[in-house]
Amino acid sequence: MIPSEKYINDTQLEHFVRDDKFLDISNELVFTINKYFDKGANFKFLDIGCGDGYLGDKILENYPHSSGCFLDIAKTMIEKNKKKERKKLILGSVFNLENIFHDHEKFDVIAVNMLLHHCVGDTYKKSRENVNLILKSLKPLLSKDGKIYILEQVYDGIIMPSITARLIYGLTSIERPKFLVRLLYSLGANMAGTGVAFASNNQWCRTFHQLDYKVKLENIISIDNHSFFRRSFLVMKSSYEKLFILSSSSK
Ligand SMILES: C[S@@+](CC[C@H](N)C(=O)[O-])C[C@H]1O[C@@H](n2cnc3c(N)ncnc32)[C@H](O)[C@@H]1O
Repeated sequence: MIPSEKYINDTQLEHFVRDDKFLDISNELVFTINKYFDKGANFKFLDIGCGDGYLGDKILENYPHSSGCFLDIAKTMIEKNKKKERKKLILGSVFNLENIFHDHEKFDVIAVNMLLHHCVGDTYKKSRENVNLILKSLKPLLSKDGKIYILEQVYDGIIMPSITARLIYGLTSIERPKFLVRLLYSLGANMAGTGVAFASNNQWCRTFHQLDYKVKLENIISIDNHSFFRRSFLVMKSSYEKLFILSSSSK
């Protein structure tokens, strides 16, 4: 069953168009893949929530024998993708993977970059359950030594680690009055009116553990610099972009 989810509108999707400011992040991803595959390796990857394809394209460029499936739910983002050899574009939802890949197709690398926090439900709890559903649905798609690369924005709260993520969810999920949504948007909440469900490092580690994934690597890629006002308002200890690499512990 496909859970209820809220869709990101086209204005909000514009925030996800990547340019060379993201070179560091894509280099980090490519560098990490390097730990497992050499340049000539012939591997298959799946980029879920690929956006404009910037990060996946870097994998294709750096590994000339790799091939990738790029999947996104937004037609506007699929259309922003460059057409390339060895690249297959799929318009579809991460909640429908078992119907999209029914031929027991397997992937050596599954990239889930900045997607999971957008799979929001009607409550914060349901949003986290959506993440569990997604991560469970990835297991059958992994090849024997396959790995899932999850790049996420992590928020750690003061005293209660999940408090900042829950506050951000609460604020960005407000749909009315419209002036409040516009105010939150102007204060930097790009997903105001739609909702975004981040999590703390503790929450991520617990989720992976509960789903029986092995965390092979954890790497903080960049640390955010927030004002004192924003940190106090959101009861925030720190926020950063982190890459988690998982493998299925049953293999
Ligand atoms: C923050 S962008 C990240 C894009 C890309 N991964 C990157 O890091 O540049 C999130 C992307 O996830 C897509 N998305 C949101 N919900 C989705 C879903 N249920 N299934 C597939 N893609 C989804 C959005 O359309 C958007 O392109």
